[in-house]
Amino acid sequence: MAGEKGFTLWFTGLSGAGKTTISRLLEGHLRERGSKLEILDGDVVRENLSKGLGFSKEDRDTNIRRIAFVADLLSRNGVPVIAAAISPYAEIRSEARELMGDRFVEVYVKASVNTCAERDVKGLYKKAFAGEIKEFTGVSDPYEAPENPEVVCDTEDETPEESAEKLLAYLEQRELVPASVAATV
Ligand code: ADX
Repeated sequence: MAGEKGFTLWFTGLSGAGKTTISRLLEGHLRERGSKLEILDGDVVRENLSKGLGFSKEDRDTNIRRIAFVADLLSRNGVPVIAAAISPYAEIRSEARELMGDRFVEVYVKASVNTCAERDVKGLYKKAFAGEIKEFTGVSDPYEAPENPEVVCDTEDETPEESAEKLLAYLEQRELVPASVAATV
């Protein structure tokens, strides 16, 4: 995809809401079209760029500012980015939006604490409810849902594939990715 447009899909939502799953599915669709997409996933970033950071507000803010910094560098050079971290604080998400302007697309990956706790893919909610993990988002730490996200993926009502397709349609409509072959014939 020569001359590809840069943008950042900024996923925000609770642990277990579906951010990583949807981002991987969307990645597949975009790569099929030749995209040079990069994913900045919270769990991965915390193993390298943000290694050593914890989950205090200060450390989360630092983590999110680092992700936004890299997302800005990439997206301003035509590389699409999916940032997939909880990013619980609205103020820091606004900072990221200000940094990237039109290139920033906020995506609320929405599922309730109860749903995420029922899924409990990593077994962390069980520990958080038992008090074994402190400052756990949605249980013992805040999550500030976005007020005006560009896209909402309600993962209680839609499958990950439906969410990925919704995002693809949004990107096509914004002309951030070319319309699919099927849509142009
Ligand atoms: S953020 O708040 O700084 O955006 P990030 O997305 O990078 O969080 O990391 C969240 C991941 O760290 C969760 O999916 C979970 O696997 C793990 N984790 C460990 N401790 C916590 C905690 N106290 N709160 C939230 N997530 C935690």
